[in-house]
Amino acid sequence: MTPENSKTQSETAELRKKIAALDAELTADFKAQFSVTPFLSRKIVSFQGNKDKPAYNWYKYKEAFSASLVEYFLSSYDGQISGKVLDPFAGIGTTLFAASSQGIPADGIELLPIGQEIIRARLLSEMELTSDDIVTLERWIASLPWKEFPERLPFSTIRITENAYPPETSAAIERYRAALREENEKIQAILRLALLCVLESISYTRKDGQYLRWDARSGKRRPGTKAFNKGEILPFDAAITAKLKEILSDIRNAETPLTLFPVKQTAKDIRLFKGSCLEVLPNLETASYGTIVTSPPYCNRYDYTRTYALELAMLGLTQTEVSNLRQEMLSCTVENRGKDLLKICPQWAPFIEATNRQKLLQTINAYLEHEKASGNLNNSGIPRMVRGYFSEMACVIGECARVLKPNARLFMVNDNVRYAGVSISVDTILSDIARSLDFEVENILVVPSKKGNSSQQMGAYGRVPLRKCVYVWRKR
Ligand SMILES: C[S@@+](CC[C@H](N)C(=O)[O-])C[C@H]1O[C@@H](n2cnc3c(N)ncnc32)[C@H](O)[C@@H]1O
Repeated sequence: MTPENSKTQSETAELRKKIAALDAELTADFKAQFSVTPFLSRKIVSFQGNKDKPAYNWYKYKEAFSASLVEYFLSSYDGQISGKVLDPFAGIGTTLFAASSQGIPADGIELLPIGQEIIRARLLSEMELTSDDIVTLERWIASLPWKEFPERLPFSTIRITENAYPPETSAAIERYRAALREENEKIQAILRLALLCVLESISYTRKDGQYLRWDARSGKRRPGTKAFNKGEILPFDAAITAKLKEILSDIRNAETPLTLFPVKQTAKDIRLFKGSCLEVLPNLETASYGTIVTSPPYCNRYDYTRTYALELAMLGLTQTEVSNLRQEMLSCTVENRGKDLLKICPQWAPFIEATNRQKLLQTINAYLEHEKASGNLNNSGIPRMVRGYFSEMACVIGECARVLKPNARLFMVNDNVRYAGVSISVDTILSDIARSLDFEVENILVVPSKKGNSSQQMGAYGRVPLRKCVYVWRKR
């Protein structure tokens, strides 16, 4: 070993020791707030919990949490909600619909067009359908009007979605898209929703966090990967009619329970802001919300713009628009360039300062830069992603504190992560930042079963359990 190498190694060891000590100190500091909460099963904090929930399960958004989780926090967590609920990372609107079903008005912010579209279509589907509308949907299910439709409406693709469907499926999609234009706005929204819901199942791809996996039958293969078989690739007609049946049956059955809160009120009480919460939050009124229930992207390199590429292309986004969207998303991939946060909002200087003062975070940042310089990182974008994630989250947290009423609570689901052999305690770091930005940390509720690490991390550094938690913060 050269003297240079040995110096680098001892610096690495020294930084890790420092991180371990600061981490232990911060964990001890929050000892009274930590509690392992059996109610918070992995199922309930994830989309799994929506599997049997009508309407919530139409579109499989793997990053969603369950409606039961939201209902739990809104009703049983000792709280009397006064005022609207907000979710700045609304996804497909779980918080919004769950709040609304309890008679609480809700606002959401969502950047990704697929989430926006699912929310819009669901709102339209919850408006009263006329008996003619029902007959139309039944006709689509029984007689598949697209099959003989003379025209086609081609859909756009981006680089990573080219040839994603068998040729006969692409042709059927084009005819379906053309045929649905003959229907009224509500029916069109439901038919488009059904199409978005089945895209993955009729394609050669499988969503896989950081990218789309391609079935070998597509003829595409990522260099250096094993041939992959996703199982059955559903024929278009079968997939779409099954989905339409499911939607229609849920709409029909919903009429009874929803009479508690008239159907139209549900639609009226949900408001969606399309765009980045970094842009939208500063324009929301101070002290105007009674609760925030949210789950931001985790700092785990998952790339929503790749995972949901089929849907984004089907919604008509171009390659450039998808790339721009990736940059606008909260930094959680190695491709995110830093955002000029003070340009977005000059008042955020104290929020950014709060991350600069957070010692554990600063030591982790220094460690990751050191590992990058030593060639020990499998991707050189990791330090920038981690730095960006926490600065942007600090701004979101600062804004959330501003828009909440005094004593109102924020509930946030998030995962800890691990890079270069070091666990990053996202829960305690964000909670520490939150308490310097007008929040009191009431609880850090730990999901009982521990999550593993990526296979890369496990191979290189062994398995270390990572916490998944719900943070409960109260505005002072
Ligand atoms: C973990 S998911 C939330 C899912 C949501 N709880 C649900 O049940 O559907 C995080 C969401 O944040 C969105 N997102 C990422 N960056 C954003 C930003 N800057 N502004 C608003 N939304 C953003 C993503 O598109 C994603 O839908």
